[in-house]
Amino acid sequence: MPTIVLNGPVRLRGSVAVHGSKNAALPALAASLLTTAPLQLQNVPPLQDVQQMLAALEEIGVEIQTDPASSALTLSTASLLELEPNPERIRKMRASFLLLAPLLWRHGRVALPLPGGCTIGPRPVDLHLKGLAALGADVRQQPTTIRVSLPLGGLRGTEIALPYPSVGATEQLLLAAVRASGQTIIRGAAMEPEVVALLTLLRSMGAAIERDMDTLVIDGTPHLRGASHIIPPDRIEAGTFLLAAPATGGEFTVCGAPVSELDAVVEVLRTLGCCVSFSDSDISVAAPETIRSLRTEARPFPGFPTDLQPILVASLAAAEGESVVRDSVFPERFGYVSELNKLGADIIVHRSSAAIPGRRHLTGCAVTARDLRAGAALVIAGLSATGITTILEPHHIDRGYAALEAKFASLGATIERKP
Ligand code: EPZ
Repeated sequence: MPTIVLNGPVRLRGSVAVHGSKNAALPALAASLLTTAPLQLQNVPPLQDVQQMLAALEEIGVEIQTDPASSALTLSTASLLELEPNPERIRKMRASFLLLAPLLWRHGRVALPLPGGCTIGPRPVDLHLKGLAALGADVRQQPTTIRVSLPLGGLRGTEIALPYPSVGATEQLLLAAVRASGQTIIRGAAMEPEVVALLTLLRSMGAAIERDMDTLVIDGTPHLRGASHIIPPDRIEAGTFLLAAPATGGEFTVCGAPVSELDAVVEVLRTLGCCVSFSDSDISVAAPETIRSLRTEARPFPGFPTDLQPILVASLAAAEGESVVRDSVFPERFGYVSELNKLGADIIVHRSSAAIPGRRHLTGCAVTARDLRAGAALVIAGLSATGITTILEPHHIDRGYAALEAKFASLGATIERKP
């Protein structure tokens, strides 16, 4: 059984570079189905979730070429097969649900398995489905499958007001509306940078999309072309490293970070007492001997990201007093706390908040990564703990972080993967 083994504590030093964004790459891969012309994607991160999505696309006939010099991927969907994607593969990752709208446009009908809940709490898709129905699609929900078909004449533009700025629903509706006839207005859209990256890609493919804060106006078109697009750097990976500084008393630089997307993270680091400075796309952070405590909440962008909530909680174990971290996006995203408590963090979860008492010196032991960001939080807790921490089920971490051990090792950590 593979494990990650760490020997702490360590004060991280040096510099580390950020890969391309997972959550921007996955919708871009789905968007390849919206044109029969080749789509070139650069800076695609080498992650398990990306590999799963590429495999799902290959199985339905998408040709994928990798340029060995630049590692750019070119996806060509001209010979797409009239096949449903493999449900087992689709079930493994929620982002594959974004294939729904593009496959609907390609085949006129599509069936995809309902993505299940997961360890971060319930993850319904009602907003995706209501939006598609508003565009005229016939949506049928069966116990484990969603079946959607196009009306005669295809999807028709309409006005959709999202009651919550869901990232996935906004992306799904964008992927549908660019191929609808007429104008679609999406109000209350998510403003996460990954949504903006999809917008940029679709525009470069010829889509007409205007954005005014959380309102998107899309004029559907029958003509979308191929394009070349660079996946932006991963703000969550950058934030994961930055938050390792207060956890370890570290002083290091995160290179190639999407600086403008990290305001909320930088604000948190400064509240904790860290010094943060910038040079182009590099962010340097230096943590004090003892960090301050804080009260904060994970919220939709531009708020502090829910994907960094577990990592922040892990980094607060040794703060000078009690901290409280609430998650308003996924209120149940605290399943990992029992593992942090095995290391001695003494965190109490009440409703959608974690109370972290602080002043705790963690001690290494065996803990289990139950999901992606929880796994990264345990790595960071292990770096600050005394002795050996063994992380079981590290495959969850590989879904969203490339070479995480090698990157922490380059910052001075004693960390290795055991087969
Ligand atoms: C995306 O998930 C990200 N995943 C998540 O990252 C991220 O945590 C999340 O956005 C929020 O930022 C990808 O981009 C692949 P949502 P998504 O729809 O789109 C409710 C990671 O670790 N909701 O914005 O699924 C939902 O229950 C992952 O990289 C509905 O009620 O998130 C949640 O409370 C984990 N109905 C809230 O909205 C719906 O139809 C936010 O979900 C859809 C969502």
